[in-house]
Amino acid sequence: MRPRLDRVRLRADLEELAQIGRTATGGISRTAYSAADAEARSWYAARCRDAGFELTLDGLGNMFAGPARTGPQQAEVWTGSHLDTVPEGGAFDGAVGALAALECVRAITEAGAELPHAVRAAVFADEEGYFGGRLLGSFGLAHGYQRAELDSITGVRGERLAEVLAGWRWASGDATGTRMPPGRIHAFVELHIEQGPRLEQERTDIGVVTAITGLCGARVEFAGQPGHAGTTPMTGRHDALVGAAAFVSALPDLAAAVSADAVITCGTLQVWPGAANVIPGRVSLTLDFRDPDRERLATLRDRLEAAAMATAAAHGVTAAWHGHPLIDPVPMHDGVRRAIIESADALGLSRMDLPSRAGHDAQNMAHLGPTGMIFVPSRGGRSHAADEYTSFDAIAAGADVLLATLLELAQGDHP
Ligand code: HGY
Ligand code: MN
Ligand code: MN
Repeated sequence: MRPRLDRVRLRADLEELAQIGRTATGGISRTAYSAADAEARSWYAARCRDAGFELTLDGLGNMFAGPARTGPQQAEVWTGSHLDTVPEGGAFDGAVGALAALECVRAITEAGAELPHAVRAAVFADEEGYFGGRLLGSFGLAHGYQRAELDSITGVRGERLAEVLAGWRWASGDATGTRMPPGRIHAFVELHIEQGPRLEQERTDIGVVTAITGLCGARVEFAGQPGHAGTTPMTGRHDALVGAAAFVSALPDLAAAVSADAVITCGTLQVWPGAANVIPGRVSLTLDFRDPDRERLATLRDRLEAAAMATAAAHGVTAAWHGHPLIDPVPMHDGVRRAIIESADALGLSRMDLPSRAGHDAQNMAHLGPTGMIFVPSRGGRSHAADEYTSFDAIAAGADVLLATLLELAQGDHP
């Protein structure tokens, strides 16, 4: 019997998950390791129990689901995405790929399909970079973390990752021991919403991802001197926010000077001591910056750091740069892309090649085995916002392509 997706079940799963972490404004806040993230993971674990799956956890909270393994272990085909969201995010980023993956593994298992390579569903921890600004869980699978590095990672509100993990029910084992041995992954495929406008503009069902942008980030601390807002003259102040603001205002020009594709975002900014009548003594801000080319990304990083220092000095304050590791841009694997293309064509769906300007766990998984990504359209190209939307029919089409691609890859010797 050829595996077939249960669309009713997939749709119900998406609708149920979309209630977890929903806020009064209609967005979804399931930031990594929050109570809502824990609730989503409990819910996911219950779906795995319903399916009779074994659910394994690693020390960072990555989750892997599928039928219990018996006998000699062949390299596996993996699929998956994430359940965490940005604050006030949408119901589709991550959820679509994580739940379609689960549905594919259920369909394959229920059909009793005998495949040379088992198919397993993954949920990656902290995809959105709440801690340390990177694809935390999948980075741990691809590269591993040293203890000192883990101990230095803090959340956007200063929470220490090591402490959060110690109290996190959905992690098990040593967080420094997550690196996957080579040869375990036969192929990896992730279904995701596009998060941009191209598929909708071109009225195309399926995006076959060619490459994923490189990305990097940093926290920059501006320090000056706090003081009385009324009695301190404007000349001679050391206002950390004035220095930080001058730096933030320069970001569009800094991006444009490196490349037309470079993007830089300052998405959080905190001011201390934080009173209307006190000159800001300290400012901490985050940077997210991206470019499809690694060299240009490194140039962007170097210029941003230099600009922070120079701008701070020009305003009588200091700046300290705390950079995150640079995540390489990665091309998708030709063999996996071919399997996606053949699957879309066999299903009579229209398709186009396109690069991803969002980051994805697939870019870490590409270090572990041949990797590809399937995109479905995002209405208005909107994402990381409450109005993110993809119709269920479009999701189901993507899930059908995912299933066919997984079956193709799980049959073969080489993707
Ligand atoms: O930020 C990103 O590109 C992704 O959605 N994590
Ligand atoms: Mn996202
Ligand atoms: Mn995502």
